[in-house]
Amino acid sequence: MTISKLVTMSNGVKMPIFGLGTWQASVVTSELYCSTFNNTFFQSSKESVISSVKTALNDGYRLIDTAAAYFNEEAIGEALAETFKEGKIKREDIFITTKCPPTFLHPQKQEEAISSSLSKLKLDYVDLYLAHFPCAYGDELKPEKALHDCKPEDIWKGFENLYEKKLTRSIGISNFNIEQIHRISKSAKIPIHNHQLELHLYFQQDDVVEVCKKYGITVTAYAPLGSPGRTSYKLSNGFQPKWPVGPEPLENPVVQYLAKKYSKTPAQILLRYLIQKGISVIPKSTNAKRIIENHQIFDFELDENEMRNLYNVTQQPRLFWQDFLIGHPEDPYKEERGKQHKNPLHLI
Ligand SMILES: NC(=O)c1ccc[n+]([C@@H]2O[C@H](COP(=O)([O-])OP(=O)(O)OC[C@H]3O[C@@H](n4cnc5c(N)ncnc54)[C@H](OP(=O)(O)O)[C@@H]3O)[C@@H](O)[C@H]2O)c1
Repeated sequence: MTISKLVTMSNGVKMPIFGLGTWQASVVTSELYCSTFNNTFFQSSKESVISSVKTALNDGYRLIDTAAAYFNEEAIGEALAETFKEGKIKREDIFITTKCPPTFLHPQKQEEAISSSLSKLKLDYVDLYLAHFPCAYGDELKPEKALHDCKPEDIWKGFENLYEKKLTRSIGISNFNIEQIHRISKSAKIPIHNHQLELHLYFQQDDVVEVCKKYGITVTAYAPLGSPGRTSYKLSNGFQPKWPVGPEPLENPVVQYLAKKYSKTPAQILLRYLIQKGISVIPKSTNAKRIIENHQIFDFELDENEMRNLYNVTQQPRLFWQDFLIGHPEDPYKEERGKQHKNPLHLI
């Protein structure tokens, strides 16, 4: 089974099925985005972001996933500019995804947000622009600043405008629930092209994937390795969110067995499983060896039985609860937040 390295979106735009994630490859801070915590966070140096992006591009990666909220768009922009200058890769060969933060989701503020991202990335357009969450806020991410009148449908109207202005070649959503996808799809002039959501071995989200399929929405898995580095996420004031405790996909026995069988790493098995299902993956790494290794998943194939065994792994609750959305009328996980989940705020 040969897997196409490109996924075609409903508007004909082709998106690589594999790319580099960059959350926690952050270099700057955000008083605006993280004002709830009054924090600054430094996860890695600017040089490390530039070097990771260049390592990935040199290795054949053609998709880089970022977000205004990762505070690394400027470093990525530098890596891209240097790469273009070297003349090996052209702008049109690369697919750049970035995301509009919740404090800029009001349609009147979206253009300012995308223009800021474009300027940092040193680009005239991005390839995919995502609404990072379905919840719009005023100037701060505090429950009292939730914009109750700005519904996902309103956010989407603004996104259609950005698309029509050709600031982005496609538009999509992230962290929306099924009901919100239905609502947008019913009223949209331009369909949702992509949904980026938490998706890995222990949280396969079949129901959401099914709905996306129905509407012709391509799916991107975030945390495709189960985000093992999430626990080192720390705010500058020392606050470290608590994460749900559960099994790690990389340590799953079926994954370990298949890794041995195919002489691959557990990460490569997890990634291959998802792309074999037609789901795009954006594993993050700032480690050159792992960046290159994670990409080597196009030279082997899991058989039907192995795919079924991975599919049948007992599912666990989500890892990314995005608790800062609690209290917003469009909190996508309102219904799902149960007794098992008592995490302090975390923000991704
Ligand atoms: N839309 C959203 O709300 C949202 C939320 C979360 C993430 N995302 C996006 O999705 C991307 C991926 O998610 P993620 O970063 O949370 O999780 P992930 O890609 O599942 O895991 C990344 C972690 O795994 C480590 N790692 C990478 N390759 C490895 C390997 N071969 N073996 C063992 N460990 C390995 C990385 O460490 P090293 O760097 O040290 O290799 C890092 O700590 C993000 O970077 C971001 O772009 C989006």
